[in-house]
Amino acid sequence: MARVRHDDGDPPDAPPGAASRPLLGGEAGADDAEAPGIRPQRFAEYIGQAALKRKLEVFVTAARQRREPLDHTLLHGPPGLGKTTMAQILAHEMGVRIHVTSGPAIEHKGVLAGHLTALTEGDVLFIDEIHRLSPTVEESLYSAMEDGRIDLPVGEGSRARTMPFSLAPFTLVGATTRTALLSAPLRERFQIHEGIDFYSDAELSQIVQRTAGLLGMPASADGANEIGRRSRGTPRIANRLTRRVRDFAQVRGRERIEAEDAHYALDQLGIDEAGLDGIDRRILEAILDQFEGGPVGIEALAATLSEPRDTLEDVYEPFLLQRGFLVRTPRGRQVTRKARAHLGRPAGPAPEGGAGQGELDL
Ligand code: ADE
Repeated sequence: MARVRHDDGDPPDAPPGAASRPLLGGEAGADDAEAPGIRPQRFAEYIGQAALKRKLEVFVTAARQRREPLDHTLLHGPPGLGKTTMAQILAHEMGVRIHVTSGPAIEHKGVLAGHLTALTEGDVLFIDEIHRLSPTVEESLYSAMEDGRIDLPVGEGSRARTMPFSLAPFTLVGATTRTALLSAPLRERFQIHEGIDFYSDAELSQIVQRTAGLLGMPASADGANEIGRRSRGTPRIANRLTRRVRDFAQVRGRERIEAEDAHYALDQLGIDEAGLDGIDRRILEAILDQFEGGPVGIEALAATLSEPRDTLEDVYEPFLLQRGFLVRTPRGRQVTRKARAHLGRPAGPAPEGGAGQGELDL
């Protein structure tokens, strides 16, 4: 079932943002960091991604001036960077409802038909993890996106056939962790393709200050910087850490999160100075100790760590690559000198000529 939100905001008895919280898994359901009231509802409240915001604001303004739905939009980027939030902002700014679901939740064509036929003019259908749609579901999405039509089954047995059904004009917003996971025909049916990048420490610090204020435990600039700096470039993590630091600060009888509170709490939580958590360090240590620093193929690494390959690739690796702890070489993943130094290991050899992300999939 999709969660539907109306353009006039939340129902009067719900806290702000409550109605827009998706029910289904994926980006938003993954943890409680985006609890009611925290998630920004408007471009003006959204911190960071300045270039993306500028473009999307133009596309929204232009669509509104033409009185048309926004074009189908594909958002890609690592988990936790705000794809769901941005989809909700797009709907809010367009003044339409959003229906939220995810690739794995659309188990068959009937489920998709249910979502599509529930749309009214201009609505946004948000499909998180859109790369996880089954091929048959994906195929029925093509005619919906292109011609505003789906074929509905009618009759049974030898009289079974399909009947075309005209849909209300709508906007599909799809989110994926990597566009390479999407089939070319689906990718090509989106007219807007935009990526969301990791946030700067300064942006995360602002997000922490906003969230801490909304949670009723303000953070000093130094306190917010400390949390922001250790949040792996990811707002969802910044918000989660802010909640946990607030717990420590509250129990210590503080009225405000200071740098020392953040330091203390994050150390207790096992988040190190660079923002790496226990699993990040386990990944780097496994490559160092069991594969002599690499290169190592992703399957071998996943087996060694007993972690699913997808989780390593989608959740952990992008940040380790972006911060230069790991490189992808033609023969697999390899730790860098920066990673060795961070873990207090001897310098070791420089990595082989690092290939760009996604160049090879070893
Ligand atoms: N919470 C999560 N992402 C955010 C963002 N980009 N700006 C403000 N608050 C957020």
